[in-house]
Amino acid sequence: MKDYITQLLENNENFVQEHLAKDPNFFVNSAKGQEPKVLWIGCADSRVPPNEITKTQPGEIFVHRNIANLVIQTDMNMLSVLQYAVEVLKVEHVIVCGHYGCGGVKAAMGTHQYGLIDNWLRQIKDTQNFYWKQLEVLNESERFNRLVELSVIEQVYNLGKTNIVQNAWNERKNPWLHGWVYDIGTGYVKEQTSMINNEETLKEVCKFEQGIIGH
Ligand code: CO
Repeated sequence: MKDYITQLLENNENFVQEHLAKDPNFFVNSAKGQEPKVLWIGCADSRVPPNEITKTQPGEIFVHRNIANLVIQTDMNMLSVLQYAVEVLKVEHVIVCGHYGCGGVKAAMGTHQYGLIDNWLRQIKDTQNFYWKQLEVLNESERFNRLVELSVIEQVYNLGKTNIVQNAWNERKNPWLHGWVYDIGTGYVKEQTSMINNEETLKEVCKFEQGIIGH
C-alpha cells in the first residue's frame, strides 16, 4: 500500500503538470508576486478549503484560518494578517466564512471541557448569551445553525471595529466586508451580510445595539 505522504507528493507533481499544461508560465508569473483581491478569514476545518469552494487559483485569495473563524481583537496573528492584507496588499474584500456543523461552535454551546481551546471559543459563548432570546426558541439543530450565522456576523462586526479597517475606510472606502456561511452538506455558500464599507452600514447590518440581527 502506498504511503499517504508519498501519495501527496505524487499529487503535487500532477498539480505542477496540470498547471503547466494550461499555462507554461504559471509558476514563473506566480513567483513575481501576489495581488489578491480578497482576504479570507475561515475555519481551520478541513472541509472548508477557500480556493476549492470559490474555484479560485493560487494568488487570488490571501488566507487566514483558525478554529471557528474568529476575529479576536488581541490575536496578533489575525491582526498581522489583516494589516498586511489591507495596508500592503490593499485587498478590496474581506470575507469571514464560517460553516454549518462547525465543531468549534458546537463545543462552545456545551459545557464539556476540551482544554486550552475552551478559552479560544469563549467569545462564541458570549454571542450565544447575547442572542439567547432568539436562540432559545429554536430546536437544537436550528440553534446550532443560527449560532454559526450569528457568530459570523459578530466577526464581521469585530473586523469593522479594528483600527486597520476603520483607517482604510476613511482613506479609500474599502475593503468591503462580507459574512458567509458555507454549508458542508450541500457545498453552497449562504451570505449573511450585505456589502459593508462604512460604519453606518456596519451598524445597520449587524444591529448589535438592538441585539436582533436579521429576523
Ligand atoms: Co469550524
